Amino acid sequence: MMQDNSQIHDAVRERYGRLAAGAGDAGCCGSGSDCCGTTDVALADVAFDSGCAGLYTVDTSWLPSEVTGLSLGCGDPITLAGLQPGQTVLDLGSGGGIDAFMAARQVGPAGRVIGVDMTPEMLARAERNKVAVGLENVEFRHGYIEALPVASDSIDVILSNCVINLSPDKAAVFREAYRVLRPGGRLAVSDMMTRGRFTPEDRADLSAWAGCITGAEDVALYAGALRAAGFVDVSVVDKAEPVDELADLRRESGPARLFSARVTAMKPRE
Ligand SMILES: C[S@@+](CC[C@H](N)C(=O)[O-])C[C@H]1O[C@@H](n2cnc3c(N)ncnc32)[C@H](O)[C@@H]1O
Repeated sequence: MMQDNSQIHDAVRERYGRLAAGAGDAGCCGSGSDCCGTTDVALADVAFDSGCAGLYTVDTSWLPSEVTGLSLGCGDPITLAGLQPGQTVLDLGSGGGIDAFMAARQVGPAGRVIGVDMTPEMLARAERNKVAVGLENVEFRHGYIEALPVASDSIDVILSNCVINLSPDKAAVFREAYRVLRPGGRLAVSDMMTRGRFTPEDRADLSAWAGCITGAEDVALYAGALRAAGFVDVSVVDKAEPVDELADLRRESGPARLFSARVTAMKPRE
């Protein structure tokens, strides 16, 4: 039976609240020792790893261990984003704040970063981490990525790391992302995706959904939803094989194959 949106939000919030409180035993993504590699998913075989260290090609050595220890992403949206000093950045599902802090350092004092997350325990950790990091140009807001607490046309770059797959309403996420970006603004996202789709039975497994597995959407549907929201220059590549453009693939039948994707898109200049 398919769950309703609030049940999915509750399961996701419970999982990440537990992790933020330090009581969890699971990271976001991964199967066995391979963090977010392409996987033919047999749900019973999926093991959840703690954290996803080593995701970043940018320097993370300056970040305190409280921050790097709560890194739950599946890629490196910071490198993908190519941020410039002075930009205003929004991080969807900012968690403990790792990407928000790296973005804040890159945009400098003339820029600023807003992190949005729905899990109070994560926001509390992010606020504590902000003190440890000592950056002033980052703020964390409570809210849903499907209904962003952010002004329209106010953001230069949207980042997100392994979060949109967790949303039960990805079309709403992309509509909201489009609304808050200024014309010419860009999206740079790391996310879990599939070729092929999970079955309704797979999707009913809320533990696997909250673990960044069965909420993942087929790449053709994901790219189609971005375009339907108004985005242009939509690109999706597999992090493990970034040479092939996947955004124009047809929807695949057959079992879902999970992979970590790099997604970029732009809100057209008027
Ligand atoms: C897998 S963790 C990733 C955290 C962070 N981006 C990182 O790389 O460490 C997912 C985060 O997204 C948040 N989240 C999931 N679904 C959300 C939603 N619909 N609205 C707001 N936050 C959400 C969770 O509370 C959690 O902090």
